[in-house]
Amino acid sequence: MDEITPDLVARIASRIYNEPTTPNSTSQPSYAQGHGPSYAPGGPHSAATSHGSTSHGHLPQGHDSQGHSSHGFPMSAPPMQPPAMHAPMTPFPPDPSGQMPAMPTQVPTSPDALPNPGEYAPRLPASPGSAGIPGAGSFSGFSFPGLSQGTPSGGPHSSASGGPSYPALPGAPAGSSGLSAFVASVRQSNYGGREHCLANSLIPSLREKLSTGRVIPTSGARALDVPSIREDFPILREKVNGKSLVWFDNAATTQKPQAVIDALSNFYAHDNSNIHRAAHTLAARATDAYEKARQKIQSFLGASNIKEIVYVRGTTEGINLITQTYGRKFLGPGDEVVLSTLEHHANIVPWQMIAKERGAVLRVIPVNDRGEIMMEEYQRILGPRTKVVALTHASNSLGTILPVAEMTQMAKRYNARVLIDGAQSVAHIPVNVQQLGCDFYVFSGHKIFGPTGIGAVFVKEDLHDLMPPWQGGGNMIKNVTFEETSYSDAPGKFEAGTPNIADAVGLGAALDYVNRLGLPNIAAYEHELLAYGTEQLSKINGLRLIGSAREKVGVLSFVLPNKRTEEIGRLLDQEGIAVRSGHHCSQPSLRRFGVESTVRPSLSFYNTKGEIDRLVDAVKRIQRLP
Ligand SMILES: Cc1ncc(COP(=O)(O)O)c(C=O)c1O
Repeated sequence: MDEITPDLVARIASRIYNEPTTPNSTSQPSYAQGHGPSYAPGGPHSAATSHGSTSHGHLPQGHDSQGHSSHGFPMSAPPMQPPAMHAPMTPFPPDPSGQMPAMPTQVPTSPDALPNPGEYAPRLPASPGSAGIPGAGSFSGFSFPGLSQGTPSGGPHSSASGGPSYPALPGAPAGSSGLSAFVASVRQSNYGGREHCLANSLIPSLREKLSTGRVIPTSGARALDVPSIREDFPILREKVNGKSLVWFDNAATTQKPQAVIDALSNFYAHDNSNIHRAAHTLAARATDAYEKARQKIQSFLGASNIKEIVYVRGTTEGINLITQTYGRKFLGPGDEVVLSTLEHHANIVPWQMIAKERGAVLRVIPVNDRGEIMMEEYQRILGPRTKVVALTHASNSLGTILPVAEMTQMAKRYNARVLIDGAQSVAHIPVNVQQLGCDFYVFSGHKIFGPTGIGAVFVKEDLHDLMPPWQGGGNMIKNVTFEETSYSDAPGKFEAGTPNIADAVGLGAALDYVNRLGLPNIAAYEHELLAYGTEQLSKINGLRLIGSAREKVGVLSFVLPNKRTEEIGRLLDQEGIAVRSGHHCSQPSLRRFGVESTVRPSLSFYNTKGEIDRLVDAVKRIQRLP
């Protein structure tokens, strides 16, 4: 019988991530795995960002040749494999061809997904059998990255902390330590020789990924008519510095289709009123439009009840709502909040603040050299003190898609509450909160082609009565006297004051737009762009791509030797190409890779390979600057 040694854990990890089995083979920063707030990345923070000067003039024209002399960049990463947006998490064995996994070519349509007559519809090319009707893909029957087919087994029941709890999953005997249970489950599965024998007792969706090596929908996606789609976005006709705008800053915010712009302007032209509190016609229309948009969010996220959708300004406010209500009530001294190294500051700082106030501690899950979560470390961190696990679904700095369904199920073995930050996933990955099994899912409207200043939090219904209200004021009350106030039921309880009515309506229009294109179609196209961009950028001598996870959204973070990232961003802007450069509000994730900032082109469905060619050409010219 094997002892629980670092080597055994490393071998288990290698089966999960199909990586070399040497323990400590990754250059992890020295995260404390103890009970204190534990981010103290130890590595050099700026080795890759020496501040060489560059010309401030226009870029020299012409293409770089391959084989351009290397600058001896000290931090260069191992050769990049094209990432897989829906790629196999763990192919057994890896595809010897090194090819991108085949992407789906067709997506079944659902009558529900067809646009309502007369509603604005974006364009998809007609395909045989579609009768030329723009249609969105039905999600039923698919398996998506980060999306489990299973819901948590059994219903919630009361725990000592007053919150509902979940029955332990197979392989996780109640009270056992995370690591022992994990190792026991691997042993039970007869680990030790055969490639496909791992983890009969692991979470079924993870096992399926491990054994089949694919999380791609088995049927296909429909090709998008990108030229027509681009016509839906008026801003894409803008010239910047005399050049056609290339919008590669989609992770920061997305552009708005005409449908959203029209929805906003129609609301203000025809329906504008405050809501909920008047008997007149416009109040009824405005209330209707606002609540209809809530319904669209419910259905987009797969929530079971419209009351589970709480409007907020965006992801940041949503996470603060959870920390200030759930966190303040349920976190106590010594309780643990588990985060990943990949979090945006919006999913770090609010937890840090409430942890400090309540005497709780943060635990941080490390990532490997690709930027993927180290699942065995996560398993080790989880324990009876874990009260909350808060994870980004996709990293805004590296693009990594986290296996949030599996991670949620693992957290549920300890009755922890799980928050998923969907800011970077909601526009790229189909989401179903019931299948994920999470308690909270948060996103911003502006990241999904909707307006700024509006977003939503999914709050699981069983928490509504347990959570205190957040802000006090109008709209969130049932009855007020100077002695006492009784509160509305959710979601009103969490929505004090006049809300952002018009932008909620705009967000509803954005979700309609995305639904009509179909997220599986979007994902397939963006995957193709990501693979192309990765391949082309990787050919540039000295360029270091940061983040090579096998499951990624369309984020291509990179640094160039001897060039400052701000300078690269400024020079690209002269070419009409908008990218973000800086720390992307995710400093711990970049420091894990020894850098303080990167240049970050980020992709969306209206981008093209031609635009990527423009970027690559410009970067080559920047690289040649003295
Ligand atoms: C992963 C992630 N979380 C949270 C946020 C914060 O979103 P917002 O600024 O819309 O509140 C962002 C924004 O970039 C993000 O990428």
